[in-house]
Amino acid sequence: MPLHNTSNRYGAVSKVFHWLTALLILTEIPLGLIANGMAQDLNSPGIVSTQADIQRTALLFSIHKTTGVLIFFVALARILWALTQDKPAPLHPERRLETFLAETVHWLLYGSLVLVPLTGWIHHAATVGFAPIWWSFGQSLPLVPKDETVSHLFATLHVIFIYVLLVALALHVAGAIKHQIIDRDATLRRMWFGGHGTDLPAKAAPHTALPAVAALIVWAAALGFAALSGVFASEPTASEPTAAAADSASAPADPDDTASAGWQVDEGTLNITITQMGSTVTGTFADWTADITFEEPAAPGPAGTVDVTIAIPSLTLGGVTQQAMGPDFFDVENFPTARFEAEIEKTTDGYVATGTLTIRDTTLPVTLPFDLTIQDQTATMTGTLQLQRLDYQIGQSVTDPASLGLDVDVDVALTATRARK
Ligand code: HEM
Ligand code: HEM
Repeated sequence: MPLHNTSNRYGAVSKVFHWLTALLILTEIPLGLIANGMAQDLNSPGIVSTQADIQRTALLFSIHKTTGVLIFFVALARILWALTQDKPAPLHPERRLETFLAETVHWLLYGSLVLVPLTGWIHHAATVGFAPIWWSFGQSLPLVPKDETVSHLFATLHVIFIYVLLVALALHVAGAIKHQIIDRDATLRRMWFGGHGTDLPAKAAPHTALPAVAALIVWAAALGFAALSGVFASEPTASEPTAAAADSASAPADPDDTASAGWQVDEGTLNITITQMGSTVTGTFADWTADITFEEPAAPGPAGTVDVTIAIPSLTLGGVTQQAMGPDFFDVENFPTARFEAEIEKTTDGYVATGTLTIRDTTLPVTLPFDLTIQDQTATMTGTLQLQRLDYQIGQSVTDPASLGLDVDVDVALTATRARK
């Protein structure tokens, strides 16, 4: 069988590329749908997820992403090959509308082969954690920041381009069946293997740019329709402000706050770091308040108090934010805030806050050693402590540290100014 196309038949390379792509795409679509459905179950607060559920979902996503990246490169090779080849002329060029539709759909399919995997890949690269791609490259991509908004945008684009692909594919396959069953012509046979096609008359193919323009209009219309329906505007649910933020803002304030020992937090970060499937994932609480009293003592001894209230729903934790909110983890429905209350002490070599940390309905003693520098009326502190999540009944169904590490590192950094008398 000749390798190259001619003006009336496909060569072996084009055929292999076509059916390999068809096989990969027809496997990839159900993989994506099933993995996404499972992820939605994991994120659903009403469904208790087990360790096996999480592992199965991650596995399916890893297969989906790894196959998707493969499709991307096969598609590039296929497109480069097609550019060097003759395009076999339509068998019925006189059927103008049908030919125009078939060629528009071919453009949509070629374009989808690039746009769908590329948007999925960028979505992955912008997301922190969860299921890895199994290729040794591509966990991150140049110019793609790890950013929740970018990740959400490209997840949305991935799905929009999938819709276009699905419609184009349905039309394409329906067309192939129509040619086979109704027209009974050689359309399907000349794409299949064997000697068919060489006997077909070579007809002049009317080459116009119209089908390509029509394909661009279809993509633009899909994006416009999606924009009008508001999918781009909707933020990932995890970053929506919640009632708990208001809750934390009204945390009981110590009357001493207004005294000279009171400090006003100007800015700060509160991060947690976990290890998921071997990868480190750092999450941030956007909403928390701290009531601090502090008076530098002349010698080691008591130095003040600290009372921190943290709005759990303000946490963003890579791709698993929703999961972290679920009943098996923070159970945000029932326990929207966490609280750290401690006495501050100056020690011989630094400072330490010793008190209790309440997460869910568990209160345990904790010690937070921290560094502090005070310049003029501004204090800068940084501190780190390690918690065991199972002590707080967080993720009790996930006991295998290989899936989700047991240690949780907490990092806090803040700048505060002394409140006026
Ligand atoms: C079971 C599924 C499929 C069937 C039965 C099928 C059938 C065909 C047939 C018969 C042709 C030849 C059309 C002609 O000669 O004018 C063709 C061409 C084509 N098919 Fe498919 N196809 C399938 C899946 C796919 C998939 C999944 C893609 C890509 C996403 C795809 C992309 C294309 C493209 C771009 C062409 C134009 C020819 C070329 O330049 O390679 N097809 N297909
Ligand atoms: C041609 C290749 C691909 C096809 C046909 C495809 C198809 C799909 C489908 C059908 C879904 C489910 C959408 C839904 O239920 O709303 C999906 C979701 C997803 N795909 Fe792909 N995909 C491809 C490539 C990729 C690649 C290369 C990656 C990443 C490296 C990827 C990552 C994802 C992710 C993370 C989701 C979940 C989206 C979300 O969070 O909303 N996909 N994909």
